[in-house]
Amino acid sequence: MSDIVSTSDGVNQLNLESSSGDTDDVVDPWNVACNSASGIDYDKLIVRFGCTKIDQTLLDRFASLLPPGEKLHRFLRRGLKPFFLYTGRGPSSGSLHVGHLVPFFFTKWLQDVFDVPLIIQMTDDEKFLWRGMKLDELQKITLDNVRDIIACGFDPDKTFIFSDMSYMGEAFYKNVLQIQRLVTFNQVKGIFGFGDSDSIGKIAFPAIQAAPSFSSSFPHIFGSKKDIPCLVPCAIDQDPYFRMTRDVAPRLKYPKPALIHSSFLPALAGAQTKMSASDPNNSVYVTDTANQIKNKINKYAYSGGGQTIEEHREKGGNCAVDISYQYLKYFLEDDDRLAEIERDYSSGQLLTGEIKKLVIEELQKIVAEHQVRRKAINDEQLKLFMTPHKLNFNF
Ligand code: TRP
Repeated sequence: MSDIVSTSDGVNQLNLESSSGDTDDVVDPWNVACNSASGIDYDKLIVRFGCTKIDQTLLDRFASLLPPGEKLHRFLRRGLKPFFLYTGRGPSSGSLHVGHLVPFFFTKWLQDVFDVPLIIQMTDDEKFLWRGMKLDELQKITLDNVRDIIACGFDPDKTFIFSDMSYMGEAFYKNVLQIQRLVTFNQVKGIFGFGDSDSIGKIAFPAIQAAPSFSSSFPHIFGSKKDIPCLVPCAIDQDPYFRMTRDVAPRLKYPKPALIHSSFLPALAGAQTKMSASDPNNSVYVTDTANQIKNKINKYAYSGGGQTIEEHREKGGNCAVDISYQYLKYFLEDDDRLAEIERDYSSGQLLTGEIKKLVIEELQKIVAEHQVRRKAINDEQLKLFMTPHKLNFNF
């Protein structure tokens, strides 16, 4: 069973529950925290948000679209109803951590197998409103973040990346306005927990994250087509925005966006929190050196192993809380090898130092490759992605 969940079709009521519902876990677009060492109780969250877990049947359906080990031929792919991918990032920090890459790795894979346009929204306005950052500072951080996103392997002929501060206007703003007219203060209070002393900027913002779900926001890509369906790969904390979007879509005669959520990469100290850019000892940054990665994992990665070698050999390690194992689950490609590691660590045959060595190597490789690709990106290429342009698709 995958950790990823997708919204079900019934998820379109507003005022569902506020994000501080009935569990101890706090998951909303601004906070992620829980009390359990095994991390967020996604099963409870799924019920609270009205999502559904991706089960084997759905995975099988997904896989049936792909011949094993092979991409569908483009003739077959183009025979499918066309759709586009939309995701985004709030540029809040100059240094991304490996957890930030997770939704982009997955987005890149979706784009590769389906060969569809991708839109990436940089919500510099959101971070201005919530984090009190300076406008000029944000501009620089946005471009830095875009470089990291491009380094995940995207292609400017298939991808448009925009900052809200620059792209706001014309077709996009018209959609923002239409959404703003349809959603009341009462509704965003219910969804996001806004109060009377929140700035009016925050209250109006959700419409800005909703609007790119509609193809009419991008006439340079979709021409006059207003009905191209959208799939949004994102972390599950972004769900409230899209519950709102799915509610307004039919009233605007637009298709509802579909969602596919990723879970959070846990912090080094344990799965009680997600990795956070502001805590260097709790995160592995994409700028870390091989040595820094090694030291961080050895020093800070929470271990589910025994206190002593004897105890570990006797009782085995607990993969559910062991951060090294959890990271391998995210980043190691080989299923058989992962199953072997789980078995050997749980039985006590594989020691904590040994599983740490495995995750160190894996992270060093991913980060080093990322750094090489990022270094090769110049200002010209940034411009190619960020200037409104027609993509290599005909609509
Ligand atoms: N709000 C998101 C963040 O803070 C950024 C974002 C904008 C986004 N549009 C999106 C994320 C669509 C996922 C999908 O990171």
